[in-house]
Amino acid sequence: MNEVFIHDKEFELTLSSEKIYERIQHLQQAINKDYYQKDPLFLPVLNGAFIFAADLVRGLNIHPEIQFIRINTYGDSTVSSHQAKVTFGLEQDLTGRHVLIVEDIVDTGYTSDFLRKYLKIRNVASVKMATLLFKPAKFKGTVAPEYVGFEIEPDFVVGYGMDYAQRGRELPGLYTVKQ
Ligand code: IMP
Ligand code: MG
Repeated sequence: MNEVFIHDKEFELTLSSEKIYERIQHLQQAINKDYYQKDPLFLPVLNGAFIFAADLVRGLNIHPEIQFIRINTYGDSTVSSHQAKVTFGLEQDLTGRHVLIVEDIVDTGYTSDFLRKYLKIRNVASVKMATLLFKPAKFKGTVAPEYVGFEIEPDFVVGYGMDYAQRGRELPGLYTVKQ
């Protein structure tokens, strides 16, 4: 299936699930090496990262703790700042932990900056981020993601866990909106 309609928009396949998995194996090698004997805590961010996280952790030869988290962001059109809140998943003590945030996509970087700040004040030993996708042209954050699957153009994508108005997450590949 190379083209798909989600709600009112047409999307076309831009990354097959095979290509994605090939790339994930490289990320796994780097993560195995960097987190060897560090007892890392992985924090996949719901909902979008659920498929990436599932593929990323299978095939690792370290044994990370995995806790899903959810954050809600509230955009406010009247002021230029957003507000975000972790709504579940981080009740435990994080002191001294090596934390790897697992994201589907880093766009403006706002979510990433928020999470890094939130974790640092909880005295973690380190915070890094693994993201399947990164849109550098839209990035305004302070720290770029350390593990990136693919850098992509600033176009809207769905599939592989990511949604357009809550649909399209089940698509095995990644689809980009047609102009
Ligand atoms: P950021 O805070 O602007 O970096 O946005 C991060 C979040 O926005 C991601 O975790 C996604 O949930 C969502 N997002 C950004 N770009 C896309 C896209 O192209 N498709 C689907 N979701 C996206
Ligand atoms: Mg997300």
